[in-house]
Order: sequence, then C-alpha cells, then structure tokens
Amino acid sequence: MNFSQIFGRLPETQASAPGRVNLLGEHTDYNDGFVLPTAIPQCTTVQIGLSDDGQHHFYSENLSDRVDILDINYTPSGFASYIFGCIEVLKAAGQTIPPLSLYVKSSVPMGSGLSSSAALEVATLRAIRQLLELPLDDVEIAQLAQQAEIHYAGVQCGIMDQMASSLADTEHILFLDTRTLERQMIPFPRGAEIVVIDSGVPRTLATSGYNQRRAECEEAAHLLAVKALRDITDVEATKVLPEPLRRRARHVVTENNRVLEVLQGVTPERFGSLMNASHASLRDDYEVSVPALDTLVEILQKTPGVFGARLTGAGFGGACVALVKSGEGKAYANHTLEQYHQTGYSGRVLVPDLELSDAA
Ligand code: GLA
Repeated sequence: MNFSQIFGRLPETQASAPGRVNLLGEHTDYNDGFVLPTAIPQCTTVQIGLSDDGQHHFYSENLSDRVDILDINYTPSGFASYIFGCIEVLKAAGQTIPPLSLYVKSSVPMGSGLSSSAALEVATLRAIRQLLELPLDDVEIAQLAQQAEIHYAGVQCGIMDQMASSLADTEHILFLDTRTLERQMIPFPRGAEIVVIDSGVPRTLATSGYNQRRAECEEAAHLLAVKALRDITDVEATKVLPEPLRRRARHVVTENNRVLEVLQGVTPERFGSLMNASHASLRDDYEVSVPALDTLVEILQKTPGVFGARLTGAGFGGACVALVKSGEGKAYANHTLEQYHQTGYSGRVLVPDLELSDAA
C-alpha cells in the first residue's frame, strides 16, 4: 500500500535520512565527549502531505500499521511516538504545525543499534521542514530530533545519532565534539572499509541499562568535581572513585583519548587496534556487552585482513562493526557469518548492504 492508497491523495513532498554506525567513541556523547560515526547506506524515507480532516495520520509501510491522532492529548507508542514527538518539539520551539499525513518506509534495521529511531526523527523533521518551508538548519534538526527521542521515547540519549543522521555521509567519518558541536569530515583510513554484522540478539536492556550508565557517569563527574567526564583526560584521576564508577569513568576517559588519537591520523592497523581496545573497555569497564557480541567480535578479530572490531551503539545486543581491507568487505562478512552460525547464534550482514549490491 502506498501513500495514495492509504491517504487517498498524492504526497506533497518527501525526505530521507540514513542510519549510522559508530566506529569509535561509544558512550561518550552524554559525557560531552568525542565520537566517530559514519552514515550507512540504509535509510528512512518520509512522504508527507497536509491532512484536511483536522487530525494527524501516520502510516508505517514496514509494520503495515496506521495511527490516527484523534486526540492531541494522547501520546502514541511505537513508530508513531517518534513522529508525534517531532511534531510536539517543533510546536514547543514555536512553530505552527497543521494536521499532517505521513507515510514512512525504512531499510534501516530496527533494534540493531544503527539508529533507526534517529533516521525516522531526522527524516520526519526534514519532510516537515520541506513541506512548511521552516527555517531550520541541519544542526537544529538534529537537536530537535534528540529532544523528541528524550521526551517521547524515554531514552536519555546524547546527540551523536541525530547529528550523524543529519550531517554524516557514507564516504566519510564524522568527527564530532559533542560539547561544542564542532565537527570535521575525515576520510576512512586508506585501504579500509567497514563491515557491520547484526548479532541477532535484541537489545533487551538497552533503555534501562543505558539510562543507568548515564546516571553513573553523572555521579562520577560530580565526585570528580567536573562538569562532565570529558573534562578528565588523565585516567589516573579516576582512581579515587568507588567501584563501579571508577571503571565507568575509565572507559569514558580512555575512549575519548582513542577518538582523539584517530583525529591525528592513524593507519588502518592502528585504527583497528583502537577499536579492539574499545570493545575490551566496553565489555570489562562499561559492562554493556553480551556473550553474542563478544563471540562475534572475537571471530572478526581473528580473521586475517580484519584490522579491528567492536560492538557498536549502546550495546546489550545489536550489531558489531569491523574495519577490514577495502574491496573485501562482502567476503569477510560472509566468512564471519558462517563461523558465527557454527556457534549456534543467528546473525546477518548489514554492511556492505548485500541487498543493494546484489540488486546492482
Ligand atoms: C545510543 C544513544 C547515543 C549514544 C550511544 C552510545 O545510540 O542514542 O546517544 O550514547 O548509544 O555511544
């Protein structure tokens, strides 16, 4: 069913936004730190038109689900909560938003830690910006999207995902200072490309575990008398903290330092070992890995031609990212998946996008 079959008219305009994968700088963004995401080929597209019955209507092609907002005081759940959240944050920012019909379709995998929610928020805000000619720049779009996520999806997230979806592309890595929002597009290390594999394990504890880690970091910063853990650069300073805050802070400090090292320019081999160190730190100090992610990362790290690998996103399930020799991504991905399946898990390759490359 397309837009006109659902809403009885053609859409007036449409906009898209990609998912993202983070290469380095995990759980640093809500500590005012540094991140290195890139856009993935999969994206979300939102078609939009005015609605003439005084109500908002949302349709998800992937879920075959239609939500009609009959009562403006009702907050929807599921995919509609993100769209509704975007409309509400625009209104809170002083924009007048007429009743809208929105149709969503997406190739960004859900629940894999590749920011399907940020892609939906950014695509929705872009579509509304275009339809209503709102004077919003891409950073403002990301900020509004983050507000929608915090207030309507209940995740106390940082700004990485929304900035990546709004500003990154697939040809570069986006270096972002999440405190100042200063950014730089940097090239991939020469001769390297990325592989992303979903572990097949859903991110069950993601929201509660995430919000808890964030609270722990805030407490650690408070005890160290700094505004945010980003202000600590020497890992020795974390030694005065009680456990588990010491390990949480140590992860954030070492992770920020790893990102800053990449910014100086590193070989693919060095980038890879920084990714390996990041995984160990997320597993042992930050405790957001699960056995399936560790298994997948171990297989990747042992494969010749793979420079490094780690879990990506919030953790507690979801996907792993690896940096591999360029031109070989598909072969490494298939090889890894075969071995992963032999361990009893069932994953899938997300990048390179085999559906896109097989269709080409
Ligand atoms: C989620 C959040 C981001 C970031 C990552 C962890 O994706 O939405 O803001 O904190 O987890 O790095």
